[in-house]
This record gives sequence, structure tokens and C-alpha cells, in this order.
Amino acid sequence: MSPERGPLAGRRIVVGVTGSIAAYKAVLLVRRLMERGATVDVALTRSAAAFVTPLTFASLTHRPVVSDVLDLDAEQQIAHIELAEAADAVVVAPATANVLAELAIGMASSSVTAIACASRAPVVVAPAMDAGMWTNPATQRNVATLREFGYLLVEPEVGSLASGLTGIGRLAEPGTIADTVERLFERAGDLEGLRVVVSAGGTREPIDPVRFIGNRSSGKMGTAIAEAARDRGATVTLIAGAMSVNPPPGVSVVNATTAQAMRQAVMREAPGADILVMAAAVADFAPKQASGRKIKRDGAELQVELVPNPDIIAEVAEMPTDIRPFLIGFAAESQDLEANAIGKLRDKGLDLIVGNVVGGPFDAIGSDENKVTVFGSEGALTDWPMLPKRQIAERLWDLIADRYRSARGPDGAQKEKAGRRPRAGSAGSRR
Ligand code: PMT
Repeated sequence: MSPERGPLAGRRIVVGVTGSIAAYKAVLLVRRLMERGATVDVALTRSAAAFVTPLTFASLTHRPVVSDVLDLDAEQQIAHIELAEAADAVVVAPATANVLAELAIGMASSSVTAIACASRAPVVVAPAMDAGMWTNPATQRNVATLREFGYLLVEPEVGSLASGLTGIGRLAEPGTIADTVERLFERAGDLEGLRVVVSAGGTREPIDPVRFIGNRSSGKMGTAIAEAARDRGATVTLIAGAMSVNPPPGVSVVNATTAQAMRQAVMREAPGADILVMAAAVADFAPKQASGRKIKRDGAELQVELVPNPDIIAEVAEMPTDIRPFLIGFAAESQDLEANAIGKLRDKGLDLIVGNVVGGPFDAIGSDENKVTVFGSEGALTDWPMLPKRQIAERLWDLIADRYRSARGPDGAQKEKAGRRPRAGSAGSRR
């Protein structure tokens, strides 16, 4: 197969090489990735450059090599940040014990650790070291931490080591590491042919022309979900409330900053969509009447009468089966996550609900990371650690795609929705 048609065609991979004798195998890894179609950039630590020169990698990739955290690229931009942003995946191979420790505590003192730290792409780490170093409890703790962060570890192999001893610690074969990278992208395309609608951000319910009742939702969670669906081949519409992040390119955007506007947008987009994910924080109440003029302070108390907003997702759940999308809600809870999330799942007639915690020592709102539990009608379905929101989004799509296909069958035919219950009417539904 020609590289242009290889499984990694169109992918940009950054290979970070650190100071181990196994650095020579990184040359083969770069070749394997290029043979499979990837565009490969290489970053080296200073000690890696003592084993293999930047010239070797530059000659192989025909691209500049970043060997210092202070390097600038051809456009005078900070090279490690540019690469971190452009990467579809970062592969640290070989990763020394020292680099594992740096990554586990978020140090960014070399070009390699700086790229891994700055990138929002998946990071694959292939350790190589002496057996004693690998089995050392500190190293094992660092490895566990990296796994919790969502890094993918390609375990070292047993064999003869540079010390002359035989044991565990040998860098995995370049082909094995390239296979792991390839698997990262296998799910790309698994949502092809599906129409997905995602809502993100908060709503703002006007009191007068300058004031509103709103919430702190940044839109990061919903945006990550829309972005991940786009990357997996879905046709995505993002219904954007008030957000502090930009919508991702490559998705249709409908702006809807009040609950009423969001209802209209959802009711227009949902029929015929395959999947609706409501990650938006929709205000449950709005001022009965917004003043047309800015309300003046006159010393008297101000009473603002609030009326309930429509429960948008619950309305979608009531749509006729042939046009109702597979429905995923979110539950933002400050206490009793499981009971409240499952209550909402049932009352609103959802297929799945994603519970997350707000307002405590960890607050899902505004954060770049989240810790979520997904619930179906049978209870909790996941036990995931705290992860960057983009990685949560990937895991969510793995689960949603599975559930969607078993609910609808491989041909997309509608089956009865799991967990659907008749609702007692909007007024009685739990929020
Ligand atoms: O945007 P970020 O800063 O990244 O933060 C993400 C988040 C914490 C806002 C997000 O992960 C989240 O939890 N979103 C849902 C927040 C929320 O409004 O939850 P809720 O429990 O009030 O609502 C339950 C579900 O009903 C949600 O899917 C909501 O979109 C939907 N809903 C709520 C009220 C309403 N009137 N109509 C609705 O459709």
C-alpha cells in the first residue's frame, strides 16, 4: 500500500525521543509511521541527541527537528507549541524513567515533555529502561498516574538489556508501537453517516437589555463532544449557548443563547437527527417579562417574577419514534449524583445520562477536565477517572455508538427505547 493510502494517511504524528540507548529504534519507528502514511515531526531531548543526531531524523522526515524547548519554527512561532497544537497524536518513544516522572508531575523542561504537556491530542508512551528502574515503585506509580491521565502505555518487553542483563525494560518493537498509534485512529469514521446534534454552553435569560439570569457553563464539554463526533465522521450541528470557547471548525453552528431560542433550534434540528447530546446548561427559569428599558435603581426592592422554561430534552423524548433521536442528557449535580441523574434519566425519558459534579472542590463547569459517570436505566455504566474533556468525549462516543447500534440495530432501524417511561408532564419532571 502506498503511504498516501496507508491507515495513517492525513495524520500528523509527533515522535518525542528521549535519552536512552533505545533511541536508535525511534528511527525505525519514524519510518514505520511514515510507511503507513503519517506526516511525522520529531522532537529530541538533549540526551537523546547524544544517541541519535537531529540530522538523522531531519533527513528521514524532510522536516525540521525540535531539539530545544526554546526553538522557534520557520514562522518564528514557538516550535513545541505549534507541534503540540498540530499533532493528531504524540508518541514518546523511548520514554526514560526520568521522562515518565516529569510527565507524571506535569514538568515541561524539554521539547518532548513540553509537547506532551501542551498537546490536546492522545499521547502514547513507550518506556525503555533497566529492569530495576522499571519495577521501582516510583516508576510504577508514575506509570499508573499517566494511565489515569489517559496516556496510552506500550509496555516494555522482556529481553536482553543494554546493561547486559536480561529482564523487562526493552523498548517495544517499532511495529508494535506503530500498531498502537494506528489503533488510536481506527474508531475514526465509526460515526460516518450519522447526523449528530450537540448543545453546549449556558443560556442567558434577559431581565432587561443589559442584565440576565445565566450560569457559568463555558461550552468546553459540549464543544469537545461535537469536535470528537466530527473527527469520527459524523455530520455535526452544534447548538451554541453562551460559551467562552470558540465552536470547532467543520461543524454547523446554530447560536441560541436563551432557553426559548435553544428550544426552537433543538426542535428544528432534532427530528431526523440520529443522536442528540444535550450538554448545555439550560436555565430552568426565566423572568416572566424582560423589561425593554434598563431598570433604574430607585432604592426600592426589585421583584423579578420567574416562570419555568420548557424542558427541551423532555420534549424531544416525546417525539414520535420515527423522528426521535437517540437521547443523551447531562446531569450537573452538587450532591447525590447517582440518584439525581437516574431520576432525570427516567423523568425526562432519556436513553443515557452523563452525571458530573458541580460546585464542590472539583467543579465540572469551566474546567478543562471532568470526571463523569454515565448512567443507563440499569444504573452506572462507567467508572472513569478524571480526564481532559476531549478524552471524556472520545469515551462517551465509544459508549454512545455501541448503545445506539444495539438500540436501533445495525441498519439503524428504530427499536423501543431502553429506559423510556411515560412522563408525568413537564411541570412534574425533575430538574
Ligand atoms: O460547559 P462547561 O463549562 O464545559 O461545563 C459542562 C457542564 C457541567 C455544563 C456539562 O457537563 C453539564 O453537566 N451540562 C448539563 C447541565 C444541566 O443543565 O444539567 P441539568 O441537570 O440542569 O439538566 C439535565 C438535562 O436536561 C441536561 O441535558 C440539560 O441540557 C437538559 N435541560 C435542562 C433544562 C431545560 N429547561 N431543558 C433541558 O433540556
